[in-house]
Amino acid sequence: MSWDQDLFKKTLDFAAKAHGPQVIPGSGAPYVVHLVKVATEVLRAADGTFEVDFSMQCALLHDCVEDAGVQLPTLTAEFGARVAAGVSALSKNEALPKAEQMEDSLRRIQAQPREVWLVKLADRITNLEPAPPHWSAEKRAKYRVEAQQIYDALAPAHAGLASRLRAKLSSYA
Ligand code: NI
Repeated sequence: MSWDQDLFKKTLDFAAKAHGPQVIPGSGAPYVVHLVKVATEVLRAADGTFEVDFSMQCALLHDCVEDAGVQLPTLTAEFGARVAAGVSALSKNEALPKAEQMEDSLRRIQAQPREVWLVKLADRITNLEPAPPHWSAEKRAKYRVEAQQIYDALAPAHAGLASRLRAKLSSYA
């Protein structure tokens, strides 16, 4: 497997700066830890069937529009239209009712190259760590239903990531 370490570092620096002091809810760790975990899920899944650099970039940047207010034209200028389109699909459309946001995003991800599908699988694998203690049982149950929805929509993209998500789902309390 080959991937571009300099591109990884450039993208990581941009993402770290964009998210600034943001922390992972519940853990308090710098947000960039989440981004690196998602990127390493993608790197680990590399099997020669997808473009690792593109997928890894989308992984590092996947929350920077939704959570850090980065504008798509900025992403296009820094990383090109393809990465910007991938990140856009991975971002919820907050103009929609909350209940429709995931399905809408999944539909837009499905219209993107497979590399973008992998990021969503990797994101949810990463997020199915034990839920933050302040989450209610109802919120945990909802999160699990959502994870199943992601699995159903995107599992065909990568057998290895799909099987990791399935395992996380079955052990998620
Ligand atoms: Ni994420």
